[in-house]
Amino acid sequence: MRDYRAPAGPNLISRVASFYDWQNLRREHDLWPYARSTSTAPQARCEAKSDTGASFSGINFASQDYLSLSSHPAIKQTAIDAINQYGVHSAGSAALLGNTANSLLLEQGLSSFLGDREIVLYPTGWAAGYGSVQGFVRANDHVVMDILAHSCLQEGAKAATQNIHYHGHLNLDALTRKLERIRNNDKENGILVVTESLFSMHSDTPDLGAMRALCDRYNATLLVDCAHDLGSIGDDGLGHMGLQNMVDAADIIIGSFSKTFASNGGFIAVRDKATAEYLKYYSATHTFSNALSPVQAATVLTALNIVRSEEGRVLRRKLMDNILYLRAEMTKAGLETLGDPSPIVPVRLGLEGVGRFASRHLMALGGIANLVEYPAVPQGGARFRFQVMASHTKEDIDQVVAVLAKAMHDADIEYRLGHEGNPSTGRSPSSPSAEVA
Ligand SMILES: Cc1ncc(COP(=O)(O)O)c(C=O)c1O
Repeated sequence: MRDYRAPAGPNLISRVASFYDWQNLRREHDLWPYARSTSTAPQARCEAKSDTGASFSGINFASQDYLSLSSHPAIKQTAIDAINQYGVHSAGSAALLGNTANSLLLEQGLSSFLGDREIVLYPTGWAAGYGSVQGFVRANDHVVMDILAHSCLQEGAKAATQNIHYHGHLNLDALTRKLERIRNNDKENGILVVTESLFSMHSDTPDLGAMRALCDRYNATLLVDCAHDLGSIGDDGLGHMGLQNMVDAADIIIGSFSKTFASNGGFIAVRDKATAEYLKYYSATHTFSNALSPVQAATVLTALNIVRSEEGRVLRRKLMDNILYLRAEMTKAGLETLGDPSPIVPVRLGLEGVGRFASRHLMALGGIANLVEYPAVPQGGARFRFQVMASHTKEDIDQVVAVLAKAMHDADIEYRLGHEGNPSTGRSPSSPSAEVA
């Protein structure tokens, strides 16, 4: 994919055509596992279609619905009631007349969940991430971010400034060095430090207390993206911020509703009203995009109420049981899981070629998981990303591990046959060149 990111030539349209040729070559060999669509609800077992229309079905570990709330009866009823009351559309930016009573109630609910912060809602999590950086950072400011920060944060930074400083993943020494260098040279402008409470490709977490201390030392602002763990991790659902007792650590929290809260949408949570009001008019993705629809706002609020209830606690325990069981069974089967226990379970595949074969075999054997390959992860660090839901059963997990082990075994053999003379088993470690100091 990286090869087509910056095509050359004066004609913007014709120069992108070679990507389609390459994509089609992969399609011809049944090696394009992207842009698939479900034909049933994204539950533990589901039916789906490839992007060429071929049907398949299986045990689904490729949907982000961690507490399985998207098919929860109370949530479906909430959506139906909201449609009956408001219709289906927000009909305007939140800066104009796009808010509804539902979005105001959602702001209040999130505020109380996050320790009385001020909330600004966004139409997607991506828009919130982008707006959280672009809304605050100006051309002379600096953004210091983990090399694996999500695309929305990176794109927000690129839109705001050229002073972007990446540090190696979770590397606090490297972060310290960057901050020191920046502050030695520039005492006038702002520094935004950007991280995630759960990294979505590696399933790991920074030390938020240490990052807070560094931000204090160098007069920097801390932004934490909690898209994947808010609602799904921790007894109270406050994710790693809660587990580390660091809900107060971040100056800016951004989150998404699409992983646990059964809807598209996102939010930014800040400490005071003045900051929130500024964002409402200066972060482009809030001001110049239609607001969350009343159906989405009502859905997320009901999901939030479940997340905060005893039912939510039980679902999170069930989810964590599933995560631990899946990881243990994969290890028993000789597979390598990466990162820490979370709803994201990355499984190392190694070389991209092996990963593509494994993905094809997995789908044919009735397992559904997302293949992640370079440049989304380092070269040679291809992986499956299994996404676990509370509604998965032990039987689902046993079956998927069995088909995954077979798919990976067959992929290794197929890859080696195609590369005779190459002694590699294909499961190489990630390329060290992907690390950034
Ligand atoms: C860390 C992170 N931030 C933000 C987003 C964007 O959220 P959404 O997909 O809900 O727009 C995602 C999801 O892709 C994510 O993984």
